[in-house]
Amino acid sequence: MAEPQFRTPKGTHDVLPEDHQYMTYIKKAVRHRCRQAGYRRIDPPIFENRAIFERSIGEHTDIVEKELFLVSGKAAAGQDAEQGVEYALRPELTAGICRSYIEHGMQQLPQPVELYAIGQCFRYDRPQKGRYRQFHQVDLEVIGLKDPSLDAQLIHVCMKILKDLQIADRLTLQLNNIGSADNRRAFTAALKDYFIGKERHLPEIDRRRLQSNPLRLLDSKEHDTQILLKSTPTLDQFIDDASKLYHTTLVEYLEELQIPFTSNAGLVRGLDYYGQTVFEIWDGSSGAQNAVGGGGRYDGLIELLGGSPTPGVGAALGIERMIWHMKQAGIKAPNKDQVDVFVAQLGPDAKKMCLQLISELREYGVHTIGALGEASLKSQMRLADKFGARFTLLLGQMEVKEGKIILRDMAAGRQKSLSFGKAVPEILKLLGSEHLDTYSMTDQLGNVVDSGD
Ligand code: HAM
Repeated sequence: MAEPQFRTPKGTHDVLPEDHQYMTYIKKAVRHRCRQAGYRRIDPPIFENRAIFERSIGEHTDIVEKELFLVSGKAAAGQDAEQGVEYALRPELTAGICRSYIEHGMQQLPQPVELYAIGQCFRYDRPQKGRYRQFHQVDLEVIGLKDPSLDAQLIHVCMKILKDLQIADRLTLQLNNIGSADNRRAFTAALKDYFIGKERHLPEIDRRRLQSNPLRLLDSKEHDTQILLKSTPTLDQFIDDASKLYHTTLVEYLEELQIPFTSNAGLVRGLDYYGQTVFEIWDGSSGAQNAVGGGGRYDGLIELLGGSPTPGVGAALGIERMIWHMKQAGIKAPNKDQVDVFVAQLGPDAKKMCLQLISELREYGVHTIGALGEASLKSQMRLADKFGARFTLLLGQMEVKEGKIILRDMAAGRQKSLSFGKAVPEILKLLGSEHLDTYSMTDQLGNVVDSGD
């Protein structure tokens, strides 16, 4: 095969039909679990004013400093540059959803407002296993109330989704409380004090972090930093009583819901908007690398984006990483794309008659393809085989004349001739009503929509 002239951009991939089977399966679990828990779906735009991300996620985070995908489309730069607006592709969904909450006055709604989103996110990261420049997230947000029972319920919904996908037992829930903003300020000041005169012992990357985002030292992957941290002040020494109480109550609720977790005092998350509860869902074997999900409480975020002070808690799960785990665990998403019937025909009259037949079979919920071209019956049969069709209906010139059709069971290699009018009922009987892909469109009043034909 010739080398293709164009390929997907680095760090992106086509979601091919086989992977869509997984995606559809995951979305189904998400939709059901979210609806059961009162979440409603929202879709913020794929790109937003870049300031929204910079302000929310934090200017000194990897996501903003290195990974923001800036949109430099001609129209965007031309029209909006006049107003000084620059756009970025969304690296996550929380910031956009909070912007939307403010913009649409959702504080007027009964609180908390529970929202979920499923969609593409973009991070200009160095691509590697499980890390892409375009990936998909499932995102859940609970905005407007603060109570540990909300944190517990949110985590519960996430774990239910992972259980539905049969991958929960491959993962561990890591939990921490990073206290209030004041607590973190006091801690980072103490950390900076501690390192006065000792900075040179820190690896270069962490020396920079000590200035820009000292909290990130706690989850540094650098071995030297890990060792140094053993003798530094620790964050838990600075957590106030209210945060501690909040955390112990959350822990009680998680235990009540029988959700296992690991307390992880080093867990701080890579986004700045968090306070109090933070959690991540780790691969049981590789740990922090390629976490399947993460989230936490962000009580200051809405105010930071210009709204009135409003608490919130949320989480996101990475779809590609969930699919990876499903494949590793040997979980197969149901294949709903099978071809039930291939209709082969020869001659103009047969072709015309087939169009009605195909339409009728589809209307009954039979996955049908056919009347594809002018090839010989023999090569159409070969094609039916390649499509994996269970049955083939053959209509040649002779059959048209006699009002008959040939029905072939592809796996058994058996065929019989029957009258043309019997073809549909016979196929329906052979497939069984439970295998028919039927649906009805029902509106809010319960009226079934008649498609009219
Ligand atoms: P996050 O930890 O940055 O959190 O991302 C959540 C999940 O998205 C990760 O655990 C991972 O599964 C997936 N993910 C992130 N980056 C990539 C990538 N480059 N390639 C593939 N998958 C990736 C957030 O985004 C927060 N907004 C979560 C949140 C919601 N917090 C509160 N509400």
